Amino acid sequence: MEHTSSPDTQIRDLLQRMTLPEKIGQLQLVNGAGGTIPDDLRAAVASGSVGAVLNEVNPAVVHELQSIAVHDSRHGIPLLIGRDVIHGFATVFPIPLGQAASWNPEIVRRGARIAAREAAATGINWTFAPMVDIGRDPRWGRIAETLGEDPYLSGVLAAAMVRGFQGDDLSQPSSLAACAKHFAGYGASESGRDYNTTNIPEIDLRDIHLPSFKAACDAGVATFMTSFSDLNGIPATANDFLLKKILREEWGFDGFVVSDWESVSQLSIHGLTPDDRESAFEAAQAGLDMEMASTTFAAHLASLVEEGRIPAQRIDAMVENVLRIKFRLGLFSHRHEHTEDLSVIAHPDHLSAAKDAAVESMVLLKNDNNLLPLATTERTSIAVIGPLADDPYEQLGTWIFDGDERHSVTPLQSIRQAVPEDVTIHHARAMATTRSRDREGFDEALRCAADSDAVILFLGEESILSGEAHCRADIRLPGNQEELIREIAAIGKPVVLVIMAGRPLALEDVIGSVDALLYAWHPGSMAGPAIADLLFGAAAPSGKLPVTFPRVTGQIPIYYAHKNTGKPAIPSEVMHIDDIPPRAPQVSFGLTSFHLDAGASPLFPFGFGLSYTTFRYDNIRTDTPEIQLGDRIVVTADLTNTGDREGTEIVQLYVRDLVGSVTRPVRELKAFKRVLLQPGEMQSVSFELHTDDLAFTNRHMQRVTEPGEFYAWIGGSSETELKARFMVR
Ligand code: GLC
Repeated sequence: MEHTSSPDTQIRDLLQRMTLPEKIGQLQLVNGAGGTIPDDLRAAVASGSVGAVLNEVNPAVVHELQSIAVHDSRHGIPLLIGRDVIHGFATVFPIPLGQAASWNPEIVRRGARIAAREAAATGINWTFAPMVDIGRDPRWGRIAETLGEDPYLSGVLAAAMVRGFQGDDLSQPSSLAACAKHFAGYGASESGRDYNTTNIPEIDLRDIHLPSFKAACDAGVATFMTSFSDLNGIPATANDFLLKKILREEWGFDGFVVSDWESVSQLSIHGLTPDDRESAFEAAQAGLDMEMASTTFAAHLASLVEEGRIPAQRIDAMVENVLRIKFRLGLFSHRHEHTEDLSVIAHPDHLSAAKDAAVESMVLLKNDNNLLPLATTERTSIAVIGPLADDPYEQLGTWIFDGDERHSVTPLQSIRQAVPEDVTIHHARAMATTRSRDREGFDEALRCAADSDAVILFLGEESILSGEAHCRADIRLPGNQEELIREIAAIGKPVVLVIMAGRPLALEDVIGSVDALLYAWHPGSMAGPAIADLLFGAAAPSGKLPVTFPRVTGQIPIYYAHKNTGKPAIPSEVMHIDDIPPRAPQVSFGLTSFHLDAGASPLFPFGFGLSYTTFRYDNIRTDTPEIQLGDRIVVTADLTNTGDREGTEIVQLYVRDLVGSVTRPVRELKAFKRVLLQPGEMQSVSFELHTDDLAFTNRHMQRVTEPGEFYAWIGGSSETELKARFMVR
């Protein structure tokens, strides 16, 4: 089919010639057979009953599926070929939560660009990423896939990921249609249990959970995916408030919306509908366009139209949305006929970019006595201990369907290469898996530590312990890792703990036993080179936490942008359970908001991260003491590198609206920037704020900025004390 007129004309022309079954065929996403084409799939594609296929990555099979669609079906409409390319294809980047810790949109964009290039080489043209749900509950396994707890940071990085996947021009052979998921509010699943109920007031939906989706939409994301979850009694897959009012009317989105896996047929399990027929009706009417895996649309839409329950125009609109993206992808211009050459897969340049991303994603959380970077001159031996020190698969993390562990370089391998000849490396796995509860390997590990000058422990979570449906009700280190840490620490050598995990872990009970803690998340293929560079000083850590670390699981939810409450905790009045005198009278100590056995503060706050140098912030000021609505104000602080090494600091700007017609968070991130400073160097760092940046959703669901007094902080974490005040008139 050669085209000269505009896509919209071509789409209308195509629609006019399509039968109702052929239109409905475009709305069906079916699972591939993983390397073959069964007769029923062949027949379905040839008859125009399939619009998209997921989970087929064999280039020859993808090519054959496309040629059946283009040459054997009546209208020759090419297929969307979808795949979860979440944080890399063969070259695996840090998990998204780790990438978020880089606070570096360029790192995130480049990782997605590389992932797209590798995936597109196999014929994939659609990925189910970025996942932009807000993650504030580390019990939830899918926090690993999020870009953290903050709407602003998540939004900036979501847009970067969309640009990376989709490139400058969606029709380019290496571009993938991206998919903002899981729309919306999935991260609020009660108790951090996946797929669980979400109840979110509209103000919170608009100000916390939707901004990162809006950022993806504004970045031009081609598709959205609905969440499995029940949102305020109406599952997202059939929620017209989300799919029509927000997405189409307010945001003007013109791509298409796909369900999650069988989330249409699950509507009857939720109890929104009695059966598949009503599920198809509810989802189609609410604004869903394409059904993944279940076949309620294929089974019931035609008769629902014939009965007059669904207008034919609604079906046409659904098909138009899908065809619009196929045109934008260049599929009608035969883009699918030439696949990129496979040599791009796991290309050395890609692995190098994955290392850079891993270096910038890791967060130094503790470094007593500047133990790190580890000096190797006065050391003759180093113990490398733990189940994650040399595991090329586990370091990749969750959602690595196409990750190739043959390209992994492990920390043990890199440490052996990084140390001088005369330094001996003693290695002991200590535990079969991160969940082991026996002591089989403890004695060998303890001997290893005793024979060495310093110990590097590689602990945390196997990749299977996070990701979809893999939630934990107690987020301490699994198995008897805590015991191993205590016994290793008792030997008295300096201990560096490197944690690989898909979530924040509750480390209060072990943090005191180690001298240094480097949080590596699941760092991907190049975990080893990145960790070795950081541990021995070839690179310096610059990551900052994109999510709050609780002391203990019971503090969850705990996040920095919380409300003040009417009785906020007063640190001096926070009583610890062990300090309460016997028979203490009921009102004898602080009647404020804290836990007797955990206090009110996190173990590590959002935005926190150390480096190998030290920084001082001072002299915060604004260019004017007050502004009118519609004006801008500039907030500046001086940043000095007070250490003896160059360092990169991610400078953060937070604001607080002290009084609002609805209560306001005690702090909100509004901007950040990376600053590289040489030892002793000072730089004034300025941020410009428009009064629109101070807006929030009021009682009437309007986005407003209200006049009044504001605080502004500039610093290296959400707990910075350096504060300025200004007025909005
Ligand atoms: C899964 C996930 C979704 C993924 C889809 C296709 O159940 O919820 O994130 O993209 O199905 O694999």
